Amino acid sequence: MEAMTFQQVIESRLLEAFAAAGIELPEGFKAQVVQSADLRFGDYQANSAMALAKRLRMNPRELATQVVEALQVEDLATTEIAGPGFINFRIKPEAWAGKVAELLGDERLGVEKVENPENIVVDFSAPNVAKPMHVGHIRSTIIGDSLSRISRFLGHNVITDNHIGDWGTQFGMVIYGWKNLLDEAALKADPLQELLRLYRGVNALCKEDEAVKDQCREELVKLQSGDQENYAIWEKCVEVSKLGLDKIYDRLEVTFDHWLGESYYNDALAPLVETMEKEGMARESDGALCVFSSGEGDPGNDPFKEKRDGEWSDLPMIIRKRDGGFNYATTDIATVDYRLHEWNADKIWYVVDARQGLHFKQLFDVSKRRGCKAELKHVSFGTILGKDGKPLKTRDGDLPQLEDVLSDAIKQSRIVLEEKSGHLEEEEKEKLAEVIGLGAVKFTELSHHRASDYIFDLEKMVALVGDTAPYLQNAYVRTRSIFRKLEEEVVLDSEGLTITEDGEIHLSRILSRFGEVLPSVLDDLRPNILANYLLDLAKAFHSFFEACPVLKSEGEVRKSRLVLCELTARVLEKGLGLLGINVPERM
Ligand code: ARG
Repeated sequence: MEAMTFQQVIESRLLEAFAAAGIELPEGFKAQVVQSADLRFGDYQANSAMALAKRLRMNPRELATQVVEALQVEDLATTEIAGPGFINFRIKPEAWAGKVAELLGDERLGVEKVENPENIVVDFSAPNVAKPMHVGHIRSTIIGDSLSRISRFLGHNVITDNHIGDWGTQFGMVIYGWKNLLDEAALKADPLQELLRLYRGVNALCKEDEAVKDQCREELVKLQSGDQENYAIWEKCVEVSKLGLDKIYDRLEVTFDHWLGESYYNDALAPLVETMEKEGMARESDGALCVFSSGEGDPGNDPFKEKRDGEWSDLPMIIRKRDGGFNYATTDIATVDYRLHEWNADKIWYVVDARQGLHFKQLFDVSKRRGCKAELKHVSFGTILGKDGKPLKTRDGDLPQLEDVLSDAIKQSRIVLEEKSGHLEEEEKEKLAEVIGLGAVKFTELSHHRASDYIFDLEKMVALVGDTAPYLQNAYVRTRSIFRKLEEEVVLDSEGLTITEDGEIHLSRILSRFGEVLPSVLDDLRPNILANYLLDLAKAFHSFFEACPVLKSEGEVRKSRLVLCELTARVLEKGLGLLGINVPERM
């Protein structure tokens, strides 16, 4: 039999109890057992008696009493009826020991695979190329990577796709710059920086001179209508940019199954738009081809309507511009088709800045109207702020480049390491600084609710105390150092485990929750649920470690404590790994 979490065991025992008490359950009834928010009320709480009593027109406390009488959980927990009819469960010490033994033998650490794996496409990172990634790209890249890792571990078939912006208006500028401002030597030395310089130079020229702007537009039109020279320059720029991006992804250990950028869909756009027009999905307006509201539903929830001067007016999605060109929206519609047909997607997650909310609402609505059955979701996120509470900028007013931000984080962790681990070899310190610095940036990102803005504070994020990656990495290192100090060979098996002290019980409790917490990350696609769980685990470990001596204890107590240390290490390593964060063996 597959290992079940306590939550699942209690749920199934409750269902048995309902049956034994002769209570008929409505279809689709869920026993709804949750972890208690307050340990004074036990470990788990069920409110199913209350929900059911309402439907059956019974007194909820009476119903709860009947259920508890029929309930068989002596092996597991004590129960108590509270308030208007909650049933509280407190796990017994022997059951904790049993759970710990079970986890010790389970390489998945209590995390079951989903029963029905789905094909999930994760669209993330997706920078616009020909410019280096900036700090804002960290959010999509890190959130998308961690959701992919977690979904995969839960057993889904995950397809990661880097939908890079390789066909946008920036290429008009880059090609103009290439033809007029290019410095060949600089291109050889650092191609990505040279591209950035071109882009910035032309950007500045455009602001001063309308004529340059027009020329850029012409270069873009030439590119898009197949001009050979421009196409060759474009190819070169994309190639160079990809190499630059790869360097950063390698460093971050982020991988993609595909890199189907915007340009990949070029040939699909004209026929797509033609069909949409024929089918009446789109019509001309002011020379552009547009999709309008379906007219169904409430205008307040209609992404094709907006209120102007107190009146509802149309907010169409343009799929062919007046000049005949296609745009971001057209490409995204074609991309949905591709993912449905080629990859059989059940779900597509777009990990993209909240500011693109309207675009995705329109895209999802259009896709549904075109028959898409897959679940499309905008996994949106907020802004990274500087210490002044405003969007993070460099002194020149630009967004800091991602590469610089990562280097700064590594430098900053080097300072912390110098204080804590000055005795280590230079080479090891260097490696450690990388593991800690990158971990710190990732953990800061993932421990915040993705919808909220957060302040990018390097000193705080690499600190050893606080809700940080180094705090977690240090907890892991502590478990490792215990095993290094062992003078004799110890076999960690599950014979005679005893879990009795508060510190042991609490650590067991948190360890046993891993299998319950991880799946819940996917409810609303929030890796911060896992991040916060790991903080709880590290805190429980530190309290356990202070209250319960490990090496100085003896016999079964000692072995049990060593097992708890080992499990803590495994869950920390696995959990951090699912966030894309590595753990060092010492620090
Ligand atoms: N390249 C876009 C940007 O930087 C993000 C693309 C997101 N994915 C998508 N399928 N629209 O804003």
